[in-house]
Amino acid sequence: MSESRLRARTRKDLAFRRHRQHSCWNHLVAAPLWPLHGANLGTLLRTCDAVGACLAVPQLPWIPEALERGNTLRRPGCVHWVRGDVGEWLARQRTPDTTVVGVELVEGAVRLADLPPARRRTVVVLGHESTGIPPDALDLLDQAVEIPMIGTGQSLNVVVAASLVLYRLAGLS
Ligand SMILES: C[S@@+](CC[C@H](N)C(=O)[O-])C[C@H]1O[C@@H](n2cnc3c(N)ncnc32)[C@H](O)[C@@H]1O
Repeated sequence: MSESRLRARTRKDLAFRRHRQHSCWNHLVAAPLWPLHGANLGTLLRTCDAVGACLAVPQLPWIPEALERGNTLRRPGCVHWVRGDVGEWLARQRTPDTTVVGVELVEGAVRLADLPPARRRTVVVLGHESTGIPPDALDLLDQAVEIPMIGTGQSLNVVVAASLVLYRLAGLS
């Protein structure tokens, strides 16, 4: 029998490979601006850590605890608090050096496979878990990306969709 080429990595191996730990690069920002389920936020924060993204989330009373409970990492992660109206925050992100990308199943969206890695600061807008990105916020996007689906479900879980897009934008997939 031939010897396997694959071997489990030790924690030490993994730590050695992660020589550029993320504190706040602010170049890739995941923005779940209409969050509903706390568990999704914690999972999203973990993906953000993995790809070197920040999380921008409204400053609602239940969110800090949801993030703390759901984040299974020892480090707290990079969270930017969105204070006040989220539409106004989103409008302020539209600067010449930032691209605002909505993750949504909408007419005119590019397919995930056609989305290039981010070359400049990119804000990734995620929709409400049951109603998606509100129509007035769609008007504030530079572009939208959709993940094609062939199954019977109408949409993916928001963090699954976010993770696929963040990996792509980070140039890691
Ligand atoms: C559960 S979905 C919302 C579905 C909602 N019923 C609707 O019609 O918009 C929650 C969010 O996940 C993201 N999402 C889910 N599936 C997606 C897909 N296939 N392509 C792009 N975004 C998706 C979007 O941000 C969406 O707003």
